Amino acid sequence: MAPTTSARGPDEHSRMPAGSGSVQHFDSETRRKAEELISVYPEKRSALLPLCHLAQSVDGWLCPDAMREIAELVGVLPAEVLGTASFYDLLHTEKVGHHVVSVCTNIACLLRGGEELLAHAESTLGISPGSTDAEHAFTLEEAECLAACDRAPCAQVNGRFFGPLDPGTFDALIDDLRKGALDDVVPPHGVISRVARDVGLEASSANEREGAGSSDIGSGSGGRG
Ligand code: FES
Repeated sequence: MAPTTSARGPDEHSRMPAGSGSVQHFDSETRRKAEELISVYPEKRSALLPLCHLAQSVDGWLCPDAMREIAELVGVLPAEVLGTASFYDLLHTEKVGHHVVSVCTNIACLLRGGEELLAHAESTLGISPGSTDAEHAFTLEEAECLAACDRAPCAQVNGRFFGPLDPGTFDALIDDLRKGALDDVVPPHGVISRVARDVGLEASSANEREGAGSSDIGSGSGGRG
């Protein structure tokens, strides 16, 4: 199986959406959630990262039209959205596979066979780190410490931990993922939590009620989109 795409290509500008004008990429429910998120912050642009995660949870990655719409929503240039998103490993500005497999090769995992596990993962998946297979089923990444050193050598799939792994358990994991046997455990890439966060939104609403008529940050001119 030949790799088709790099998970992180070198040309940031090639990912920038061309042209100008309004973009409507989000569906109505995503747009509603986006506006709800923006309302939490006194400055719209502070919602940039949460909006990137929201878009990635819908599409599995941050596509150019999503970045353009986010830029419009928070009042920045699309290049600022790309510049911010490309800084973070958790955000993917190129299309990735349904499963993003991140194998840790940092010190604890390295000492317990992390590099050998990564080499085995390359062989099993038929792709090199930073690449996605032709079916967009898997993306393979080499990761720094995943903060699960007690499970070394370990890996994450779409942010869910697996370890300690050896070649046999890794292959069994990939088989289960291919068959959908772990769909209850591993959500589609981009989904951080299946439980919607509402604590912050409730707090924001409470602040708004308490601050009605006053000049607290909840009623600031920049915070209500
Ligand atoms: S070194 Fe691999 S999880 Fe910490």
